[in-house]
Amino acid sequence: MGNDFTKVANVSDVPEGTVKVFEINGDQIAICNAEGKIYAIADYCSHDNGPLDQGTLEDCQIECPRHGARFDVRTGQALCLPAVLPIPTYKVEQRGQEIWVGPKQ
Ligand code: FES
Repeated sequence: MGNDFTKVANVSDVPEGTVKVFEINGDQIAICNAEGKIYAIADYCSHDNGPLDQGTLEDCQIECPRHGARFDVRTGQALCLPAVLPIPTYKVEQRGQEIWVGPKQ
């Protein structure tokens, strides 16, 4: 638990199955509550910068609202076209009821 983690929200701010965006050090980061676990991903699609937070989160997959690419929020991996490149993910820790985000992983 280094000092490079920033508190961004409480778990209650991001209910299960939802996504919320926070700006941390100039990066737009989408906090996803997938199946009760918190993940942090960059809030842009690797296809053409679609805002992933406005897409659909289902299980551990988020679908881009623009052209339907899907990403695994656990790894950032692109799961289907038109995206082929992964998106960045960030370290995230749940400390009690608080969500703390760290550097890209
Ligand atoms: S911008 Fe996300 S699929 Fe095209």
